[in-house]
Amino acid sequence: MSDTARETVTITDNRTGKSVEVPIKDGGVDAKEWGKLMPGVWFLDPGFSVTASTESTITDLDGLNGILRYRGYPIEQLAESSTFLEVCYLLLNGELPNQKQSDDWVHDVTYHTFIHENMRKRFMEGFHHDAHPMGMLVSAIAALSTFYPEAKDIDDPDNRYKQINRLISKTPTLAAMAYRSSIGMPFVYPDNELSYSENFLSMMWKVAEPTYEPDPVLSKALDVLLILHADHEQNCSTTTMRVVGSSHADPYSSAAAATAALYGPRHGGANEQVIHMLRDIGSYDNIPAFIDSVKAGEGRLMGFGHRVYKAYDPRARIVKGHADKVFEVTGKNPLLDIALKLEEIALEDEYFKSRNLYPNVDFYTGLIYQAMEFPMNMFTVLFSIGRMPGWLSHWQEALEQGSRISRPRQVYTGEGARDYVPMSER
Ligand code: ACO
Repeated sequence: MSDTARETVTITDNRTGKSVEVPIKDGGVDAKEWGKLMPGVWFLDPGFSVTASTESTITDLDGLNGILRYRGYPIEQLAESSTFLEVCYLLLNGELPNQKQSDDWVHDVTYHTFIHENMRKRFMEGFHHDAHPMGMLVSAIAALSTFYPEAKDIDDPDNRYKQINRLISKTPTLAAMAYRSSIGMPFVYPDNELSYSENFLSMMWKVAEPTYEPDPVLSKALDVLLILHADHEQNCSTTTMRVVGSSHADPYSSAAAATAALYGPRHGGANEQVIHMLRDIGSYDNIPAFIDSVKAGEGRLMGFGHRVYKAYDPRARIVKGHADKVFEVTGKNPLLDIALKLEEIALEDEYFKSRNLYPNVDFYTGLIYQAMEFPMNMFTVLFSIGRMPGWLSHWQEALEQGSRISRPRQVYTGEGARDYVPMSER
């Protein structure tokens, strides 16, 4: 093999003339070799644009080609043929379940949906009447750690399973509870006869009917949306989960931190921004002027662009496909036509083309959630329910890898040593 064909990089410290040749493995180079050659010289990479924080076997994301696979299975096939709970199992265990494993898993999740009464009466009812459901969810997930102190035993796989199960089971209950409380409606207890998505819709919308019967198209659409959000490798919230988990905090505290990271508008809050943007545009006629204002740097086309995808986000394509089915039941969201036209114009425009800006998953999800009558402050909450298995899979994987505590370095650029100045001399 010629030198140019070697799958390695050579790093030379020109201060000393010493070199090290490092293999390129699975698309990465091991930073330890750099550390041995140049101790005390750090990679400066704010925002982690070129830093891989871990190896992982969970999700394969090829942003240049618009490919997303969970444990090797294409997202398109999972969205078409699987269920959210099956995908949870797949992410957590690495394989699709057989019938018995599936039955046990679905049973375990279904029978852990209830919440301790104190959590409802004393904790959830203590929030201010107009508290944001996402703020309530962050706090409620953290509070669960006080109800399950045994969760601290993170080394026992059986104990870990129990907590993972509880978090996946109870997050929709907490989410619906947060919503009902924010609109002053009584809490609806989980219905164990319903599927995961159906039960969530029941806890959200049930009023006085003895049994809530969700529309199968809507519960299927919700299940697909949860699948699409279930994992996305080292995004901001998942990395938060791994970082907090690396201190060996219990999984409830780690998941609360991840949920908090998702709360931000740059991460889980973008779909809400898309609706605001479409409303502001208001009509077809205003689209060209809006596009011009984006190109002039006066704002962003929300729901477009992605740190990793430089092609069409495969999740956005699936969401777009499901939108029509949902609108057949709910009636068309009037903002859809503006969104479609906006996408058509942007995909033809040199500004967006040259920067590889395509619709991301958030461009169409808000329209579906809105048609299903979810209020905008619940959009990120829905994202949290979907992402929970991803967070937990990464938390578990990091523990199984025996990962060290997360502790990056910094490049210090502040003052040199100086003497304390008494107040009278400042
Ligand atoms: N509209 C207009 N221009 C954009 C957009 C956009 N949505 N996104 C990026 N650009 C432009 C930038 O202005 C920049 O242009 P320049 O090179 O002339 O300065 C170029 O494209 C590169 O953009 P960056 O900001 O470097 O991209 P980054 O990877 O840091 O940001 C992000 C990614 C935050 C998603 C960005 O594309 C954005 O703000 N999009 C809108 C918000 C959004 O939809 N977020 C949801 C993300 S998906 C999720 O979290 C589930």
